[in-house]
Amino acid sequence: MILALETSCDDTCAAVIDRSGEILANVISSQGIHDRYGGVVPEVASRHHLELIGDVVQDALRTAGASLPALELIAVTCGPGLVGALLVGVSTAKALAAAHRLPMAAVDHLHGHVAAGLLAPQPFEPPFVSLIASGGHTLLARVSDPGPAFRVLGQTLDDAAGEAFDKGARLLGLGYPGGAALERLAREGDPTAFDFPVAARVRGLDFSFAGLKTALLYRLRDLGEAEAERRRADLAAAYQRAIVEALHLRVKRALAATGLTRLAVGGGVAANGALRARLATLDVELDIPPRELCTDNAAMIASAARFVRPLPYPDYLALDVYASGERILA
Ligand code: KG4
Ligand code: ZN
Repeated sequence: MILALETSCDDTCAAVIDRSGEILANVISSQGIHDRYGGVVPEVASRHHLELIGDVVQDALRTAGASLPALELIAVTCGPGLVGALLVGVSTAKALAAAHRLPMAAVDHLHGHVAAGLLAPQPFEPPFVSLIASGGHTLLARVSDPGPAFRVLGQTLDDAAGEAFDKGARLLGLGYPGGAALERLAREGDPTAFDFPVAARVRGLDFSFAGLKTALLYRLRDLGEAEAERRRADLAAAYQRAIVEALHLRVKRALAATGLTRLAVGGGVAANGALRARLATLDVELDIPPRELCTDNAAMIASAARFVRPLPYPDYLALDVYASGERILA
């Protein structure tokens, strides 16, 4: 059995899976304290991870009927993410692994998102194109094998797709995180009522969402308070449509460039109904894992750990975390 810890953002997560990818426990403690700030406050997140991690790990072990000495491997997210938050998970994993002389696997968070689809009961086998769209990342990759060396085809140049949803939601007076609320509001609106930019000028397979947010801001200003209020649903629907079209366009290009007809989608934005419907029009075999495996969780980290070279005791004690940049290609 593999125990994995994930603390890269504001969810404190621990999971236990077996080698075949069956999930025995998947515990997620969402801090739910950042709403009032309109975003995640790194230092607040770290402190809460510290308070929660012990109970979350124990809960996962208990649910799985597992004990630490009987584990085969301990896995942990080393980056990218909030450094203070990551350190809580990595330090905890080091301590648990070292105390029992267990090996440890350092997992890249994005490899985790990609590996979510490789879990039982229906593992989606490579090769496939992977779209990861969350509050923290927007990534298109060609996944040839389950290891961490997947090829990144495109990334966002500025805001992540989920961030674009959240910023739009904020401008429309919805809470944080606002993706789901914006989707609900958009259902009552006309997506063609406004013409928002889909970053068509960004070449290749990269994304850009910063211009879209600015376009909404200017449109709200032009409409004036009363009219903007009256047309909120139309604004939400058109704004959502621009994000969905931007994602759809790059996915289509990625499929054409790779010649692949298999597409896996992950990240919190994968919950969006309009995106799902749009991607369903593509002529591909589509895999979208259940919502709890699309958003941040530790089961996906455990899944990825199966395809990472484990570090023996005590080699991992010097392991560091990283905020962004190079993926670990172990
Ligand atoms: O993967 P996730 O839970 O956390 C990370 O950011 O890693 O993704 C959260 C993001 C937020 O930006 C949230 O607004 C967005 O996913 N989201 C949605 C929906 N549900 C969550 N965006 C659009 N439509 C939704 N239904
Ligand atoms: Zn994530």
